[in-house]
Amino acid sequence: MSHAIYVFDAYGTLFDVHAAVRRNAEAVGPDANALSAHWRAKQLEYSWVRSLMGRYLDFWTLTEQALDHAFASFPSTDSSMKPALLDAYRKLDCYLEVPEVIKSLKSQGKQLAILSNGSPDMLASAVSAAGLDGVFDEVFSVDAIAAYKTDERVYEIVTNHFRVYPEAVSFQSSNRWDVAGATAFGFRTVWINRAGLADEYNDLPPAAILASLDGLAGL
Ligand code: LAC
Repeated sequence: MSHAIYVFDAYGTLFDVHAAVRRNAEAVGPDANALSAHWRAKQLEYSWVRSLMGRYLDFWTLTEQALDHAFASFPSTDSSMKPALLDAYRKLDCYLEVPEVIKSLKSQGKQLAILSNGSPDMLASAVSAAGLDGVFDEVFSVDAIAAYKTDERVYEIVTNHFRVYPEAVSFQSSNRWDVAGATAFGFRTVWINRAGLADEYNDLPPAAILASLDGLAGL
């Protein structure tokens, strides 16, 4: 079946979440990589826990809280770098192949969208910084429903907007847990396994696995 709509997860899929620390690695200190991994892990944990409790705080707030915890967890790091890291997080690099893949899909007449936990302003800033202004037909934020992935209402934002069945949508994410949620909802899913991670959520498998977004337009 051909998919009319291609929907992308943002962080980790289009935008490199570790670019913020990498750009400032020397100033952050020798535990910079560990800090970056902890920052991302806590940001996601906070989203799941808050969604389960029904106590939504927007993703930018969670991103800031997660960074505070990362600094506290790695005392060797320089916490005065907080403003610089947050600023860099608003202007992450996109992965190298993104512009070309987007161009191929557009030339096939696909509709393109982002569906992300990110708050609307942080997404707008990331899209713009990556030079992707005007490329996506829609940028959907979970903020509209005040709940995080993998709540099915998140994926429903897409089908409600485009008035389609889930099967019409190809959903790409580097986050295996997000792929599980999107598969459960009924999207055709593609896991972008950039880090070569072991598979999980075996009852909710992706339709395809790619090492990067390269090749997506041929699927
Ligand atoms: C997002 C998170 C999952 O962009 O990275 O939704």
